[in-house]
Amino acid sequence: MRIAVPLKHIHRLLNHGPTTLITTAHGGRRNVMAAAWVMPIDFEPCKLAAVVAADTFTRELLEASNECVLHAPTTAQVDLTYAVGSHSGSDGDKFERFGIATSTASKVGAPLVDGCAAWLECRVLPEPTIQERYDLFVLECVAAWADDTLWRAGEWHFAAGGPRTIHHLKGGLFFATGERHQAARG
Ligand SMILES: Cc1cc2nc3c(=O)[nH]c(=O)nc-3n(C[C@H](O)[C@H](O)[C@H](O)COP(=O)(O)O)c2cc1C
Repeated sequence: MRIAVPLKHIHRLLNHGPTTLITTAHGGRRNVMAAAWVMPIDFEPCKLAAVVAADTFTRELLEASNECVLHAPTTAQVDLTYAVGSHSGSDGDKFERFGIATSTASKVGAPLVDGCAAWLECRVLPEPTIQERYDLFVLECVAAWADDTLWRAGEWHFAAGGPRTIHHLKGGLFFATGERHQAARG
């Protein structure tokens, strides 16, 4: 079940650097792509940085709508993640092509991809210079959700053999998020 994540914990959803999916929608068109270069850059309200290349269909819809949803897909979605990161929505709707089920977001027009570990509904904080120069978008998260089988008491709990978030190495090869190591308190 999808549960709301309070403002103060949203950065923890992506703090460990997982590969994300970005959905966008505008004027009756929608899209989803993979994005590894996404990270939190502030706590409350949670802000994030995302690189969205100029030649992507996502970029077109993101600039038109100023909204998106960031997702943390799981090991069960490795093929989906690679597929939407290897084909462009400008060639046709990837949700239909790859049989991707969605739900409606609460505050933005972009859809939520079902089956992910986390969903972050975001609005663009316009920064035209860095968008143009570095393809870098600053986002503010306006609502966030996590799968309650993986997220409890403000942190991730990945069970042995169960779904985990993923990290892209190269060419469709992913690591699953690994084991916990608590550092000694300083
Ligand atoms: C695992 C993975 C991670 C990716 N990360 C990024 C990224 O951070 N930024 C980006 O612009 N493209 C990234 N890409 C490439 C886009 O997902 C790819 O260009 C996609 O086809 C764009 O789709 P669109 O044209 O429908 O928006 C990544 C691709 C893969 C497979």
